[in-house]
Amino acid sequence: MGTKLDGRALADKLQESLKQEVSQWKEEGKRLPKLVVVLVGDDVGSQVYVRNKERAAQKIGFYSQVDRLEETVSEEALLNLIQEYNQDTSVDGILVQLPLPKHIDEEKIIMAIDAKKDVDGFHPLNMGKLFVGQPDKMPCTPFGIIRLLKEYNIEMSGKHAVVIGRSNIVGKPMAHLLLMEDATVTITHSRTKNLKELTKQADIVVVAIGRGEFLTADYIKGGAVVVDVGMNRHADGHLVGDVKFDEVSEKASFITPVPGGVGPMTISMLMEQTVANRRED
Ligand code: GUN
Repeated sequence: MGTKLDGRALADKLQESLKQEVSQWKEEGKRLPKLVVVLVGDDVGSQVYVRNKERAAQKIGFYSQVDRLEETVSEEALLNLIQEYNQDTSVDGILVQLPLPKHIDEEKIIMAIDAKKDVDGFHPLNMGKLFVGQPDKMPCTPFGIIRLLKEYNIEMSGKHAVVIGRSNIVGKPMAHLLLMEDATVTITHSRTKNLKELTKQADIVVVAIGRGEFLTADYIKGGAVVVDVGMNRHADGHLVGDVKFDEVSEKASFITPVPGGVGPMTISMLMEQTVANRRED
């Protein structure tokens, strides 16, 4: 039975340390960090994510503001709002929850956010810095995964890591962060042939494809480290990852559970990058 990588416990520890830092600032009468989250429309998943981010910010003790906009809001109105927050010196972080409605160009919106306030790490400038091995603001999910692996002293150097998924939010930045840890990285996706042949060679498998319980035990070799980024609702309503946990955990050396693995780490990294901006102010 593999060891569970307890993202919840590490996230709590990191958030407790941020809380102490922020309460020190409060005592000293300093300005507190502020995160603005923009949520457009009423996507159920996004509402849950945004609520969790808001709760974490409140727990740590900094300002968080959630702007809930109508599904029909124009692209121009959203761009104007972002400009306002870019110029507002009391705002340390701006996050626009994705996905956005179809009439709004996501790339354009992400580009409009001041790269310094892009605590999600999605701006092309921040992506580019990661690409050249000089990360600044990092996409929170892959960043959180690396932190979790390091917490458990999991060796990445020289290991073969297979990433399943090539999204800008997870797959691509994940591959770069693993490269920076000197792993040998294979990126796979929906058109990959012989996926199982590749994953069976992997020392580390990161699954981010959004298909409930896709990765079964026959996809991995014994002793592999398995990281599950999935969040899917099972037919009966309960939350499952992209990994069939019960059978894969029997074969893996380490594995992240869902919930309580990657998710809480994503939020902690967001909080950390917001606090870091205030620290550098
Ligand atoms: N949608 C799914 N994950 C994320 C995330 O980490 N940040 C934002 N802004 N939107 C998301």
